Amino acid sequence: MLLSVTVVLLASTLRVEADDTCAHPSVTTYAPIPSGAAGPAVSNATGFRVESFGKGAYLLTDGLYQALFLVANESVIVVDAPPTIGHNMVKGIESVTDLPISHFVYSHAHADHIGAASLLAGPDVTIIAHVETAMELGLVNDSARPAPNVTFTDHFKLEVCNQTLELAYRGPNHQPGNTFIYAPLQKVLMLVDIVYPGWVPFEALGESQNIPGYIKAHDQLLEYDFDHYLGGHLNRAGTREDVVIQKAYMTDLYNNCAEAIRLSAEPPSASNPLSAQTALIAVGQANPGNSWAMFDHYLSDVTAEWCANKTQSQWLGKLAAVDVYAKSHATVMIESLRLDFGVLGPFGVANK
Ligand SMILES: *[C@@H]1O[C@H](CO)[C@@H](O)[C@H](O)[C@H]1NC(C)=O
Ligand SMILES: *[C@@H]1O[C@H](CO)[C@@H](O)[C@H](O)[C@H]1NC(C)=O
Ligand SMILES: *[C@@H]1O[C@H](CO)[C@@H](O)[C@H](O)[C@H]1NC(C)=O
Ligand SMILES: *[C@@H]1O[C@H](CO)[C@@H](O)[C@H](O)[C@H]1NC(C)=O
Ligand SMILES: *[C@@H]1O[C@H](CO)[C@@H](O)[C@H](O)[C@H]1NC(C)=O
Ligand SMILES: *[C@@H]1O[C@H](CO)[C@@H](O)[C@H](O)[C@H]1NC(C)=O
Ligand SMILES: [Zn+2]
Repeated sequence: MLLSVTVVLLASTLRVEADDTCAHPSVTTYAPIPSGAAGPAVSNATGFRVESFGKGAYLLTDGLYQALFLVANESVIVVDAPPTIGHNMVKGIESVTDLPISHFVYSHAHADHIGAASLLAGPDVTIIAHVETAMELGLVNDSARPAPNVTFTDHFKLEVCNQTLELAYRGPNHQPGNTFIYAPLQKVLMLVDIVYPGWVPFEALGESQNIPGYIKAHDQLLEYDFDHYLGGHLNRAGTREDVVIQKAYMTDLYNNCAEAIRLSAEPPSASNPLSAQTALIAVGQANPGNSWAMFDHYLSDVTAEWCANKTQSQWLGKLAAVDVYAKSHATVMIESLRLDFGVLGPFGVANK
Protein backbone atom coordinates (compact mmCIF):
# COMPACT_ATOMS: atom_id res chain seq x y z
CA MET A 1 0.00 0.00 0.00
CA LEU A 2 1.50 3.29 -1.08
CA LEU A 3 1.28 6.33 1.08
CA SER A 4 0.23 9.41 -0.80
CA VAL A 5 1.25 12.82 0.38
CA THR A 6 -0.04 16.03 -1.07
CA VAL A 7 2.13 19.03 -0.52
CA VAL A 8 0.46 22.36 -0.99
CA LEU A 9 2.90 25.15 -1.50
CA LEU A 10 1.37 28.10 0.32
CA ALA A 11 3.13 30.69 -1.73
CA SER A 12 1.61 29.50 -4.96
CA THR A 13 -1.20 27.39 -6.32
CA LEU A 14 1.28 24.72 -7.45
CA ARG A 15 0.44 21.26 -6.12
CA VAL A 16 3.07 18.56 -5.93
CA GLU A 17 1.82 15.04 -5.36
CA ALA A 18 4.36 12.53 -4.17
CA ASP A 19 4.42 8.98 -2.95
CA ASP A 20 7.25 6.86 -1.70
CA THR A 21 7.98 5.19 -5.04
CA CYS A 22 8.68 8.44 -6.85
CA ALA A 23 9.01 10.79 -3.93
CA HIS A 24 11.82 13.12 -4.85
CA PRO A 25 14.09 13.46 -7.82
CA SER A 26 17.39 12.12 -6.55
CA VAL A 27 20.07 14.78 -6.38
CA THR A 28 23.63 13.61 -5.94
CA THR A 29 25.67 15.40 -3.32
CA TYR A 30 29.34 15.76 -4.25
CA ALA A 31 32.38 16.67 -2.20
CA PRO A 32 32.67 20.39 -1.34
CA ILE A 33 34.62 22.67 -3.67
CA PRO A 34 38.17 23.20 -2.34
CA SER A 35 38.84 26.79 -1.34
CA GLY A 36 41.48 27.38 -4.03
CA ALA A 37 39.06 26.69 -6.87
CA ALA A 38 36.84 29.76 -6.79
CA GLY A 39 38.13 33.17 -7.75
CA PRO A 40 36.94 36.62 -6.68
CA ALA A 41 33.14 36.86 -6.85
CA VAL A 42 31.40 38.18 -9.93
CA SER A 43 29.31 41.26 -9.16
CA ASN A 44 25.62 40.43 -8.74
CA ALA A 45 24.76 43.90 -10.00
CA THR A 46 26.55 43.59 -13.37
CA GLY A 47 26.91 39.81 -13.85
CA PHE A 48 30.54 40.21 -14.87
CA ARG A 49 33.98 40.78 -13.43
CA VAL A 50 36.88 42.54 -15.13
CA GLU A 51 40.42 41.86 -13.90
CA SER A 52 43.43 43.87 -15.03
CA PHE A 53 46.72 42.11 -15.74
CA GLY A 54 48.40 45.50 -16.28
CA LYS A 55 49.51 47.28 -19.48
CA GLY A 56 45.98 47.23 -20.88
CA ALA A 57 45.23 43.47 -20.75
CA TYR A 58 41.99 42.36 -19.07
CA LEU A 59 40.09 39.19 -18.19
CA LEU A 60 36.31 39.48 -18.61
CA THR A 61 34.29 36.70 -16.93
CA ASP A 62 30.76 35.86 -15.83
CA GLY A 63 32.08 33.17 -13.48
CA LEU A 64 31.49 30.38 -15.99
CA TYR A 65 33.23 31.61 -19.16
CA GLN A 66 36.14 33.92 -19.92
CA ALA A 67 37.18 36.37 -22.61
CA LEU A 68 40.36 38.44 -22.93
CA PHE A 69 40.72 41.98 -24.23
CA LEU A 70 43.66 44.32 -24.75
CA VAL A 71 43.38 48.08 -24.94
CA ALA A 72 45.74 49.57 -27.51
CA ASN A 73 46.34 53.29 -28.13
CA GLU A 74 43.38 53.75 -30.43
CA SER A 75 41.38 50.53 -30.38
CA VAL A 76 40.65 47.29 -28.58
CA ILE A 77 41.60 43.68 -29.42
CA VAL A 78 39.14 41.05 -28.18
CA VAL A 79 39.67 37.29 -27.84
CA ASP A 80 36.43 35.26 -27.75
CA ALA A 81 32.85 36.28 -26.96
CA PRO A 82 31.10 33.59 -24.93
CA PRO A 83 27.31 33.80 -25.33
CA THR A 84 26.76 33.47 -21.56
CA ILE A 85 28.62 36.79 -21.16
CA GLY A 86 26.69 37.99 -24.20
CA HIS A 87 25.87 41.70 -24.20
CA ASN A 88 28.07 42.09 -21.11
CA MET A 89 31.01 41.68 -23.53
CA VAL A 90 30.27 45.24 -24.64
CA LYS A 91 29.49 46.52 -21.13
CA GLY A 92 32.61 44.89 -19.68
CA ILE A 93 34.89 46.49 -22.28
CA GLU A 94 33.10 49.84 -21.88
CA SER A 95 33.73 49.68 -18.11
CA VAL A 96 37.42 50.15 -18.98
CA THR A 97 37.58 52.12 -22.24
CA ASP A 98 35.41 53.80 -24.84
CA LEU A 99 37.82 52.93 -27.67
CA PRO A 100 36.28 50.89 -30.52
CA ILE A 101 37.06 47.24 -31.25
CA SER A 102 39.41 46.84 -34.22
CA HIS A 103 40.44 43.17 -33.99
CA PHE A 104 38.70 40.03 -32.82
CA VAL A 105 40.46 36.67 -32.38
CA TYR A 106 38.67 33.32 -32.26
CA SER A 107 40.39 30.87 -29.87
CA HIS A 108 38.56 28.01 -31.62
CA ALA A 109 35.27 27.46 -33.42
CA HIS A 110 33.02 26.25 -30.56
CA ALA A 111 29.80 28.24 -30.13
CA ASP A 112 30.01 28.30 -26.34
CA HIS A 113 33.16 30.47 -26.61
CA ILE A 114 32.50 32.66 -29.67
CA GLY A 115 28.72 32.49 -30.07
CA ALA A 116 28.32 36.19 -29.22
CA ALA A 117 30.86 37.25 -31.88
CA SER A 118 28.24 38.86 -34.11
CA LEU A 119 27.46 41.34 -31.29
CA LEU A 120 31.00 42.72 -31.58
CA ALA A 121 31.67 42.27 -35.30
CA GLY A 122 31.22 45.15 -37.71
CA PRO A 123 32.56 46.70 -40.91
CA ASP A 124 35.68 48.01 -39.16
CA VAL A 125 36.46 44.85 -37.21
CA THR A 126 39.01 42.32 -38.48
CA ILE A 127 38.29 38.77 -37.33
CA ILE A 128 41.33 36.50 -37.12
CA ALA A 129 41.24 32.71 -36.81
CA HIS A 130 43.15 29.56 -37.66
CA VAL A 131 42.33 27.97 -41.04
CA GLU A 132 40.87 24.89 -39.31
CA THR A 133 38.55 27.18 -37.32
CA ALA A 134 37.42 28.85 -40.54
CA MET A 135 36.85 25.40 -42.04
CA GLU A 136 34.73 24.28 -39.04
CA LEU A 137 32.67 27.46 -39.22
CA GLY A 138 32.20 27.00 -42.96
CA LEU A 139 30.57 23.61 -42.31
CA VAL A 140 27.78 25.04 -40.13
CA ASN A 141 27.07 28.55 -41.45
CA ASP A 142 26.06 30.05 -38.10
CA SER A 143 25.41 33.80 -38.44
CA ALA A 144 26.30 34.25 -34.75
CA ARG A 145 29.91 33.33 -35.65
CA PRO A 146 30.92 35.33 -38.75
CA ALA A 147 33.65 33.93 -40.99
CA PRO A 148 37.11 35.32 -40.23
CA ASN A 149 38.59 38.08 -42.43
CA VAL A 150 42.11 36.75 -41.89
CA THR A 151 43.31 33.17 -41.39
CA PHE A 152 46.71 31.70 -40.55
CA THR A 153 48.20 28.20 -40.51
CA ASP A 154 51.18 28.19 -38.10
CA HIS A 155 51.89 31.59 -36.56
CA PHE A 156 50.33 35.02 -36.66
CA LYS A 157 51.74 38.09 -34.93
CA LEU A 158 49.06 40.69 -34.32
CA GLU A 159 50.56 44.11 -33.60
CA VAL A 160 48.14 46.96 -32.98
CA CYS A 161 49.94 50.14 -31.88
CA ASN A 162 51.31 49.35 -28.42
CA GLN A 163 49.79 45.85 -28.08
CA THR A 164 51.04 42.48 -29.34
CA LEU A 165 49.37 39.08 -29.50
CA GLU A 166 51.26 36.03 -30.74
CA LEU A 167 48.97 33.35 -32.13
CA ALA A 168 50.37 29.86 -32.64
CA TYR A 169 48.88 26.62 -33.85
CA ARG A 170 50.65 23.64 -32.30
CA GLY A 171 48.54 20.72 -33.47
CA PRO A 172 45.14 19.26 -32.65
CA ASN A 173 43.98 18.91 -29.04
CA HIS A 174 40.53 20.02 -27.84
CA GLN A 175 39.48 20.90 -31.39
CA PRO A 176 41.53 21.24 -34.58
CA GLY A 177 42.40 24.94 -34.87
CA ASN A 178 42.56 25.56 -31.10
CA THR A 179 45.09 28.38 -30.83
CA PHE A 180 47.77 29.34 -28.28
CA ILE A 181 47.23 33.08 -27.69
CA TYR A 182 50.10 34.87 -25.97
CA ALA A 183 50.40 38.48 -24.89
CA PRO A 184 54.17 38.78 -24.30
CA LEU A 185 54.13 42.27 -22.74
CA GLN A 186 51.74 41.16 -19.98
CA LYS A 187 52.83 37.50 -19.93
CA VAL A 188 49.24 36.36 -20.38
CA LEU A 189 48.70 32.99 -22.07
CA MET A 190 45.31 31.78 -23.27
CA LEU A 191 44.51 28.29 -24.54
CA VAL A 192 40.85 27.47 -24.22
CA ASP A 193 39.32 24.24 -22.91
CA ILE A 194 42.63 22.68 -21.89
CA VAL A 195 43.46 23.55 -18.25
CA TYR A 196 40.73 24.37 -15.71
CA PRO A 197 42.51 26.13 -12.82
CA GLY A 198 41.43 24.66 -9.48
CA TRP A 199 39.08 22.16 -11.13
CA VAL A 200 39.32 18.89 -13.00
CA PRO A 201 38.58 19.28 -16.72
CA PHE A 202 35.00 19.55 -17.95
CA GLU A 203 33.40 16.23 -18.89
CA ALA A 204 35.19 13.79 -21.19
CA LEU A 205 38.52 15.62 -20.67
CA GLY A 206 36.98 18.88 -21.83
CA GLU A 207 35.30 17.17 -24.80
CA SER A 208 38.75 16.89 -26.31
CA GLN A 209 38.81 15.54 -29.84
CA ASN A 210 42.45 14.42 -29.66
CA ILE A 211 43.58 12.98 -26.32
CA PRO A 212 47.33 12.56 -27.08
CA GLY A 213 47.30 16.19 -28.32
CA TYR A 214 45.37 17.24 -25.22
CA ILE A 215 47.93 15.63 -22.90
CA LYS A 216 50.82 17.13 -24.90
CA ALA A 217 49.26 20.61 -24.68
CA HIS A 218 50.18 20.77 -20.97
CA ASP A 219 53.89 20.63 -21.84
CA GLN A 220 53.40 23.01 -24.76
CA LEU A 221 51.84 25.54 -22.34
CA LEU A 222 54.76 25.19 -19.93
CA GLU A 223 57.20 26.13 -22.73
CA TYR A 224 55.84 29.69 -22.55
CA ASP A 225 56.98 32.37 -20.09
CA PHE A 226 53.66 33.35 -18.53
CA ASP A 227 52.24 34.70 -15.25
CA HIS A 228 48.52 34.41 -16.09
CA TYR A 229 46.70 31.57 -17.83
CA LEU A 230 43.19 31.81 -19.26
CA GLY A 231 41.46 28.51 -19.96
CA GLY A 232 38.21 30.14 -21.05
CA HIS A 233 36.22 28.64 -18.17
CA LEU A 234 35.09 29.37 -14.64
CA ASN A 235 35.95 32.41 -12.62
CA ARG A 236 39.60 32.85 -11.94
CA ALA A 237 42.68 33.09 -14.10
CA GLY A 238 45.30 30.43 -13.54
CA THR A 239 49.03 30.37 -13.03
CA ARG A 240 51.86 28.11 -14.13
CA GLU A 241 51.23 26.08 -10.96
CA ASP A 242 47.67 25.30 -12.09
CA VAL A 243 49.03 23.86 -15.35
CA VAL A 244 51.58 21.77 -13.44
CA ILE A 245 48.84 20.45 -11.12
CA GLN A 246 46.51 19.46 -13.94
CA LYS A 247 49.43 17.79 -15.73
CA ALA A 248 49.97 15.66 -12.59
CA TYR A 249 46.25 14.79 -12.54
CA MET A 250 46.48 13.70 -16.18
CA THR A 251 49.59 11.61 -15.44
CA ASP A 252 47.81 9.80 -12.58
CA LEU A 253 44.72 9.26 -14.72
CA TYR A 254 46.86 7.87 -17.54
CA ASN A 255 48.84 5.56 -15.24
CA ASN A 256 45.77 4.31 -13.34
CA CYS A 257 43.87 3.54 -16.53
CA ALA A 258 46.92 1.82 -18.06
CA GLU A 259 47.20 -0.29 -14.90
CA ALA A 260 43.50 -1.21 -15.16
CA ILE A 261 44.01 -2.44 -18.73
CA ARG A 262 47.15 -4.34 -17.74
CA LEU A 263 45.40 -6.08 -14.81
CA SER A 264 42.43 -6.91 -17.01
CA ALA A 265 44.72 -8.97 -19.26
CA GLU A 266 45.92 -11.14 -16.38
CA PRO A 267 44.28 -14.36 -15.20
CA PRO A 268 41.69 -14.14 -12.45
CA SER A 269 42.98 -14.29 -8.89
CA ALA A 270 41.87 -13.24 -5.45
CA SER A 271 43.97 -10.09 -5.73
CA ASN A 272 42.85 -9.22 -9.27
CA PRO A 273 39.19 -8.21 -9.53
CA LEU A 274 39.79 -6.83 -13.02
CA SER A 275 40.52 -9.95 -15.01
CA ALA A 276 38.65 -9.75 -18.29
CA GLN A 277 38.22 -13.51 -18.18
CA THR A 278 35.92 -13.29 -15.14
CA ALA A 279 34.07 -10.20 -16.27
CA LEU A 280 33.52 -11.20 -19.88
CA ILE A 281 32.50 -14.79 -19.25
CA ALA A 282 29.71 -13.75 -16.88
CA VAL A 283 28.30 -11.14 -19.25
CA GLY A 284 28.69 -13.47 -22.23
CA GLN A 285 26.77 -16.23 -20.47
CA ALA A 286 23.93 -13.87 -19.60
CA ASN A 287 23.90 -12.33 -23.10
CA PRO A 288 24.94 -15.04 -25.59
CA GLY A 289 26.52 -13.61 -28.73
CA ASN A 290 26.17 -9.98 -27.62
CA SER A 291 29.71 -8.68 -28.21
CA TRP A 292 28.80 -5.08 -27.44
CA ALA A 293 27.35 -6.03 -24.04
CA MET A 294 30.66 -7.70 -23.23
CA PHE A 295 32.71 -4.70 -24.39
CA ASP A 296 30.51 -2.20 -22.58
CA HIS A 297 30.85 -4.12 -19.35
CA TYR A 298 34.60 -4.58 -19.75
CA LEU A 299 35.27 -0.93 -20.66
CA SER A 300 32.80 0.88 -18.45
CA ASP A 301 32.03 -1.27 -15.39
CA VAL A 302 35.42 -2.89 -15.00
CA THR A 303 38.40 -0.90 -16.29
CA ALA A 304 37.06 2.68 -16.40
CA GLU A 305 35.38 2.39 -13.02
CA TRP A 306 38.46 0.94 -11.36
CA CYS A 307 40.61 3.73 -12.88
CA ALA A 308 38.05 6.35 -11.80
CA ASN A 309 37.97 5.02 -8.25
CA LYS A 310 41.74 5.04 -7.91
CA THR A 311 42.14 8.52 -9.44
CA GLN A 312 39.38 9.90 -7.24
CA SER A 313 41.02 8.51 -4.11
CA GLN A 314 44.24 10.33 -5.07
CA TRP A 315 42.69 13.69 -6.05
CA LEU A 316 39.56 14.29 -3.98
CA GLY A 317 39.95 17.57 -2.07
CA LYS A 318 42.81 18.73 -4.31
CA LEU A 319 40.84 19.71 -7.42
CA ALA A 320 37.16 20.65 -7.52
CA ALA A 321 34.62 18.14 -8.91
CA VAL A 322 36.99 15.15 -9.08
CA ASP A 323 34.02 13.01 -8.05
CA VAL A 324 31.71 14.56 -10.67
CA TYR A 325 33.83 13.64 -13.69
CA ALA A 326 36.05 10.76 -12.48
CA LYS A 327 34.16 8.16 -14.52
CA SER A 328 33.81 10.40 -17.57
CA HIS A 329 37.55 11.14 -17.64
CA ALA A 330 38.48 7.50 -17.05
CA THR A 331 36.17 6.32 -19.82
CA VAL A 332 37.81 8.66 -22.34
CA MET A 333 41.31 7.79 -21.13
CA ILE A 334 40.72 4.01 -21.32
CA GLU A 335 39.53 4.37 -24.92
CA SER A 336 42.46 6.64 -25.85
CA LEU A 337 44.96 4.26 -24.25
CA ARG A 338 43.56 1.44 -26.36
CA LEU A 339 43.03 3.21 -29.66
CA ASP A 340 45.60 6.04 -29.66
CA PHE A 341 48.40 4.71 -27.46
CA GLY A 342 48.00 1.02 -28.40
CA VAL A 343 47.65 -0.26 -24.81
CA LEU A 344 45.27 -3.04 -25.78
CA GLY A 345 45.48 -5.40 -22.81
CA PRO A 346 43.44 -8.54 -23.48
CA PHE A 347 42.71 -7.34 -27.03
CA GLY A 348 46.35 -7.14 -28.15
CA VAL A 349 47.97 -9.24 -30.90
CA ALA A 350 46.36 -12.66 -30.66
CA ASN A 351 47.04 -16.23 -31.73
CA LYS A 352 50.70 -16.43 -30.87
C1 LIG B 1 25.63 37.66 -4.81
O1 LIG B 1 24.43 37.14 -4.28
C2 LIG B 1 24.60 35.94 -3.55
C3 LIG B 1 23.22 35.41 -3.18
O2 LIG B 1 22.43 36.43 -2.67
C4 LIG B 1 25.49 36.19 -2.34
O3 LIG B 1 25.68 35.00 -1.61
C5 LIG B 1 26.83 36.72 -2.82
O4 LIG B 1 27.64 37.05 -1.73
C6 LIG B 1 26.65 37.93 -3.70
N1 LIG B 1 27.94 38.26 -4.30
C7 LIG B 1 28.41 39.49 -4.34
C8 LIG B 1 29.74 39.68 -4.98
O5 LIG B 1 27.80 40.46 -3.89
C1 LIG C 1 48.61 50.82 -24.61
O1 LIG C 1 47.86 51.99 -24.63
C2 LIG C 1 46.66 51.92 -23.91
C3 LIG C 1 45.91 53.21 -24.16
O2 LIG C 1 46.70 54.28 -23.83
C4 LIG C 1 46.98 51.69 -22.44
O3 LIG C 1 45.76 51.56 -21.71
C5 LIG C 1 47.78 50.42 -22.29
O4 LIG C 1 48.17 50.27 -20.96
C6 LIG C 1 48.99 50.47 -23.20
N1 LIG C 1 49.64 49.18 -23.17
C7 LIG C 1 50.95 49.02 -23.36
C8 LIG C 1 51.47 47.63 -23.36
O5 LIG C 1 51.70 49.99 -23.53
C1 LIG D 1 50.64 54.45 -27.07
O1 LIG D 1 50.49 54.51 -25.67
C2 LIG D 1 51.72 54.43 -24.97
C3 LIG D 1 51.46 54.39 -23.49
O2 LIG D 1 50.26 53.80 -23.18
C4 LIG D 1 52.58 55.62 -25.32
O3 LIG D 1 53.82 55.53 -24.66
C5 LIG D 1 52.80 55.65 -26.82
O4 LIG D 1 53.48 56.82 -27.18
C6 LIG D 1 51.49 55.61 -27.55
N1 LIG D 1 51.75 55.42 -28.97
C7 LIG D 1 51.10 56.08 -29.90
C8 LIG D 1 51.47 55.78 -31.32
O5 LIG D 1 50.23 56.89 -29.64
C1 LIG E 1 35.53 41.56 -42.26
O1 LIG E 1 34.54 40.87 -42.99
C2 LIG E 1 33.23 41.39 -42.79
C3 LIG E 1 32.26 40.47 -43.50
O2 LIG E 1 32.62 40.31 -44.81
C4 LIG E 1 33.17 42.81 -43.33
O3 LIG E 1 31.90 43.37 -43.09
C5 LIG E 1 34.21 43.64 -42.60
O4 LIG E 1 34.26 44.93 -43.15
C6 LIG E 1 35.59 43.00 -42.71
N1 LIG E 1 36.51 43.75 -41.87
C7 LIG E 1 37.39 44.61 -42.38
C8 LIG E 1 38.23 45.33 -41.38
O5 LIG E 1 37.53 44.79 -43.57
C1 LIG F 1 23.87 30.40 -44.68
O1 LIG F 1 22.77 30.89 -43.93
C2 LIG F 1 22.18 32.04 -44.49
C3 LIG F 1 21.06 32.51 -43.57
O2 LIG F 1 21.52 32.52 -42.25
C4 LIG F 1 21.65 31.71 -45.87
O3 LIG F 1 21.16 32.89 -46.46
C5 LIG F 1 22.77 31.16 -46.74
O4 LIG F 1 22.25 30.73 -47.98
C6 LIG F 1 23.43 29.97 -46.06
N1 LIG F 1 24.60 29.55 -46.84
C7 LIG F 1 24.92 28.28 -47.01
C8 LIG F 1 26.15 28.02 -47.81
O5 LIG F 1 24.25 27.37 -46.55
C1 LIG G 1 34.35 1.79 -7.31
O1 LIG G 1 33.96 2.35 -6.07
C2 LIG G 1 32.60 2.09 -5.74
C3 LIG G 1 32.28 2.90 -4.52
O2 LIG G 1 33.21 2.64 -3.53
C4 LIG G 1 32.41 0.60 -5.56
O3 LIG G 1 31.07 0.33 -5.27
C5 LIG G 1 32.79 -0.09 -6.86
O4 LIG G 1 32.73 -1.49 -6.70
C6 LIG G 1 34.19 0.28 -7.28
N1 LIG G 1 34.41 -0.27 -8.63
C7 LIG G 1 35.50 -0.94 -8.98
C8 LIG G 1 35.51 -1.46 -10.38
O5 LIG G 1 36.45 -1.10 -8.25
ZN1 LIG H 1 35.56 24.18 -27.01
